[in-house]
Amino acid sequence: MTLLKPKVLRFESLPSTNTELARLASDGAAEGLAVLADEQTAGRGRLQRAWSSPKGAGLYFSMLLRPVIPVDQWPLITFMAALAVGDALQEAAGVQTDIKWPNDLLSCERKICGILAAAIDTPGGRAVIIGIGINLTPAAFPEATSVLEATGLQPDREAILAALLAALARWYSLLGEGEKILAAWASRSSYASGKLVQVKNGDESWQGTTCGVEPDGALRLRTSSGEVKIVRAGDVSLRSA
Ligand code: BTN
Repeated sequence: MTLLKPKVLRFESLPSTNTELARLASDGAAEGLAVLADEQTAGRGRLQRAWSSPKGAGLYFSMLLRPVIPVDQWPLITFMAALAVGDALQEAAGVQTDIKWPNDLLSCERKICGILAAAIDTPGGRAVIIGIGINLTPAAFPEATSVLEATGLQPDREAILAALLAALARWYSLLGEGEKILAAWASRSSYASGKLVQVKNGDESWQGTTCGVEPDGALRLRTSSGEVKIVRAGDVSLRSA
């Protein structure tokens, strides 16, 4: 069991909390160091996309982890982060969320949070930076949703942050028990099984019905020919029968 002791550095503006933390990690930062910014001028999302990060419109946060689990289990780190964000939004804002594989948090079927994990080499060994962007107001992504939209109330960023730090510590302590993370993830994701979806990754695309996840978090898709395809990366969208 790993005990996480979070310590948060706060910034008014950064290009990206992930890149600032990567810099600190290569200078030897300890596990649990986190970076929070009021705005990001070059926020990054999954699959090389930009992450819009206007001042005050989101919670832009990254944390450094130095996991001791086998590297082939590292995809579960984003699952545990999604579980932690789900807890934080429920506890601090009363927002109930669904998880879209692998780790988008949805409220009423629209994205409210994205998670970007990056493995990096540091003098202290291989580490992971887990970047979390929670939409607090519609200014961040008008086409997505936000805590403000979900609750009708002005979000309390500090309360959400405090709940997130506590939830990350809780879920991280379970990382060595991958089956618990996977079971919790599946119980909170309507995408875990029985959803007809398309998964796109670059020029590749697969369509099928979700049928669980592999021990390393890869998505299992049953195609119309009955074959089960294992998908390790991509963007999931719903399809109608
Ligand atoms: C996604 O594409 O869904 C992941 C988005 C992750 C955004 C967060 S905001 C804080 C951290 N810093 C970044 O540049 N990206 C992540």
